[in-house]
Amino acid sequence: MATILDGKKISQEIKRVLADEVRLLKEDNIVPGLAVVLVGENPASRVYVRNKRKSCAEVGIRGFDHNLSEATPQNELEALIDKLNGDANVHGILVQLPLPSHIDEASILLRIDPAKDVDGFHPVNMGLLVSGLPGFRPCTPSGIMTMLDSIGYNLSGKHAVVVGRSKIVGKPAALMLLERHATVTICHSRTEDLPGIVRSADVVVAAVGRPQFIKGDWIKPGAVVIDVGINRTGDGQLVGDVDFEGAVKNAYAITPVPGGVGPMTIAMLLKNTVDAAKKHRSAGT
Ligand code: GUN
Repeated sequence: MATILDGKKISQEIKRVLADEVRLLKEDNIVPGLAVVLVGENPASRVYVRNKRKSCAEVGIRGFDHNLSEATPQNELEALIDKLNGDANVHGILVQLPLPSHIDEASILLRIDPAKDVDGFHPVNMGLLVSGLPGFRPCTPSGIMTMLDSIGYNLSGKHAVVVGRSKIVGKPAALMLLERHATVTICHSRTEDLPGIVRSADVVVAAVGRPQFIKGDWIKPGAVVIDVGINRTGDGQLVGDVDFEGAVKNAYAITPVPGGVGPMTIAMLLKNTVDAAKKHRSAGT
């Protein structure tokens, strides 16, 4: 029977440790602060942002909420980022993606101070990741690595197949798996013989955003399956990118949806924010 990688449980343990660290920082009069910026009314984004804000409160991080209307012009959003960059009480800045289509996402991400970029999407932090240097790592891939660590999985020499090439998950996940000496294949919508490649994987990271796209019989017996997808089906059910019922029969370990990667992403965001506040302290600013 496959081990179920319980992201809810692992994230609770991480949050408990972070709450202790926040208490210590507060003794030094530092209250870690996270600004969460939401532009528009995307329903999925609203749910994510609400969960992020709730989790901040749980560990004692001060949340700064900015809900802007869908029609917010680029220069107004830029002015807000500039203000948050200069606010000593804000240690981390998160701009929820996707942004409305009239906003130039790349220039917004570029404007965030890399020292406050707890999402790890600024080109400086992306570059540090590619270079193998310390910097903020994107939260979902960090959560994935922490889940693999929770079962003591040694990636060295293993074939990791990442399905999806987004900036948020696929690309950074591939680089972080490579950092741990896995042999990494990145697949995407134009990949030929996707089932064949997934069948050769020791670790599958599914981040395609299509319900139950990865079939159970694509999973090699003994493989570890990490499902990043959160999709709502016609009947309102939440499902991942992997056919869980099929995959669980072959997998050595597998993440459920919900309760797998999702809570880990938030825990890593909180960790990055606490780390940003600690760096702020050691920089004496
Ligand atoms: N949209 C989906 N995932 C994420 C994330 O991790 N960070 C941000 N900022 N937006 C997202």
